[in-house]
Amino acid sequence: MNKLTIQIRPVTPPDVPAISALAREIWQASYPGIITQEQIDFMLEQRYGHERLYDDLEDADKWLDQAFHDGRRVGFAFSELYKGEFKLDKLYIHPDAQRQGVGGQLIAHVAARAAKLGYPCVILAVNKRNEKAIASYRKYGFSVRESVVDDIGHGFVMDDFVMEKKL
Ligand SMILES: CC(C)(COP(=O)(O)OP(=O)(O)OC[C@H]1O[C@@H](n2cnc3c(N)ncnc32)[C@H](O)[C@@H]1OP(=O)(O)O)[C@@H](O)C(=O)NCCC(=O)NCCS
Repeated sequence: MNKLTIQIRPVTPPDVPAISALAREIWQASYPGIITQEQIDFMLEQRYGHERLYDDLEDADKWLDQAFHDGRRVGFAFSELYKGEFKLDKLYIHPDAQRQGVGGQLIAHVAARAAKLGYPCVILAVNKRNEKAIASYRKYGFSVRESVVDDIGHGFVMDDFVMEKKL
């Protein structure tokens, strides 16, 4: 694997439109075949609408990190405190930059934060059909803890594995 050197910086309000656009680009490249286009559009609006991202930036229990390579934004990782646990909530790498260690470096960054705050593990939820992501999480020390089906409204469900990485 040819590893990309990245710089990790916190997302700030002026970054919001670019993060939202990057999310759409990555979701459109990744999720057709896993969830419907209607669900992609619904979830993008729900999670990456500008107002939602500005609210996330104000939330003391959320951390929004972005990765740059040679000045280009190549991905992002959002983490949060969720029901008393430390959760990697979003991890998205641009298709051109995938499989070059960017996801692994962002996972390490988030895991270091969780460890520093005293949490025993990092958890995440991943679609059961997202085999590439599941392979990647296994590579970085996550294993499946449980299987969940969450109703997210408007007739959509998230059919996920919850995975955890012990610290
Ligand atoms: C899943 C994702 C975050 C991993 O980040 P990444 O930077 O590509 O991953 P890394 O380069 O650090 O790790 C690579 C490992 O991931 C897995 N992987 C990544 N892309 C893969 C692919 N296209 N096919 C098979 N395995 C893949 C492999 O285990 C790989 O290890 P290997 O190259 O030694 O075989 C990234 O590919 C991505 O953003 N995918 C699309 C969006 C997504 O599914 N996000 C996760 C939502 S829960």
